[in-house]
Amino acid sequence: MPDSLSPDQRLHRLTERLAEWQPLWRPLPFQHAPVPWAEAHPRLHAALLALDDAALSRLQADPFDASPLAPWLPVEALAELVALPRLSPDAVSLPEPWRQHVGGRKWQQIEAFLPKVRLAPGETLIEWCAGKGHLARSLARWHGVEVTALEWQPALCEQGRELAARQGAAVRMAVQDVMDEDAAGWLSPRTHVAALHACGDLHVRLLELAAAAGSAVTLAPCCYQRTAEPVYRPLSRQGRALAASHGLTLSRDDLSLAVQETVTAPRHVQRSRERAGAWRLGFDRLQRELRGVDEYLPVPSLAYGRMPATFEGFCRWAAARKGMALPPGVEWARLEAAGWRRHAEVARLELVRHLFRRPLEVWLALDRLCLLMEAGFSAELGTFCDRELTPRNLLLRARRPAAG
Ligand SMILES: C[S@@+](CC[C@H](N)C(=O)[O-])C[C@H]1O[C@@H](n2cnc3c(N)ncnc32)[C@H](O)[C@@H]1O
Repeated sequence: MPDSLSPDQRLHRLTERLAEWQPLWRPLPFQHAPVPWAEAHPRLHAALLALDDAALSRLQADPFDASPLAPWLPVEALAELVALPRLSPDAVSLPEPWRQHVGGRKWQQIEAFLPKVRLAPGETLIEWCAGKGHLARSLARWHGVEVTALEWQPALCEQGRELAARQGAAVRMAVQDVMDEDAAGWLSPRTHVAALHACGDLHVRLLELAAAAGSAVTLAPCCYQRTAEPVYRPLSRQGRALAASHGLTLSRDDLSLAVQETVTAPRHVQRSRERAGAWRLGFDRLQRELRGVDEYLPVPSLAYGRMPATFEGFCRWAAARKGMALPPGVEWARLEAAGWRRHAEVARLELVRHLFRRPLEVWLALDRLCLLMEAGFSAELGTFCDRELTPRNLLLRARRPAAG
């Protein structure tokens, strides 16, 4: 049963699954035609390509639910390994005036996150990478304590100060680069650090400093790929040993998989993303034909809204970026249709990666948890809200028990 698994056991089993299946979840179907595992797994490949649009959308939304891929992939085992408890207490409904200047989704995340911050008597509270200190203001009012909010952008600190003053919230905004040496000075065994969606190296820094200082931590991690290291170095001894013994090496690109989730974007945004994907794949066909090299050629991304109006316009832009001359008589309609066909295939083949996305995210969170456990903390990992509110809904809560 998943609930009876210790973090070490869960990390161990996830390492085994991730390592065993890396040849399937690592290659990007967008870049490979055909995908490298197709020959070794012909029935899985065929089953994926046979999925209709309804099944595709259903599995994109929930890759573990009644998956027709279960005969070929360890769907049930992975579902069990990523099943984590919802941490208590439940979300609260904070007073309406407190939410001024906070967007709807962020506010709901704060309402879910805030009660999970269990402040022990006498602890001082810090928000890590606080932006304008939205969470800090609510924490200060909820707990009736002063909260120090660390943020490196002076302009955000200034705005945070104004908002706190206007609302009478006891928040001290402090300009601090948390990567700097002196950031350690904020943490002590009497400190509790809260961080909602602190990215990559920023939350790793928090965990390392907290482990050294003995500070309590309530953290919702995100953006694991935002890291200076091109290859992931597990943070915990356990994670390092398991990754080494199973041959699990994670690049920065692999870490991006942990945070890729088909979010519920508005329909028109989804449609323009699909079109961009299909056109890129149409250009991919064109460049392979023109160069006579059957290899993916990366094309820079375009900001939303900058996409040329036609497929031909896009290809001319992409060709110019890659220094390719286009001959007369390019068959635009044929290539565009090929792009759409491949787009439909790629979406289906991507379902394999979808299945391993949450396991990888949980693996990374467990590595963080184990780092603190190895430093003598008691720690727990669960979720703080539904994934519809934010897919980055994992919460790590840890404190070092008082000595004696
Ligand atoms: C993803 S935002 C999270 C903000 C806030 N916690 C929230 O949930 O709305 C990350 C914040 O970290 C800040 N930040 C980035 N690098 C930093 C650093 N080295 N030191 C301190 N803050 C940093 C950014 O300016 C930004 O406000």
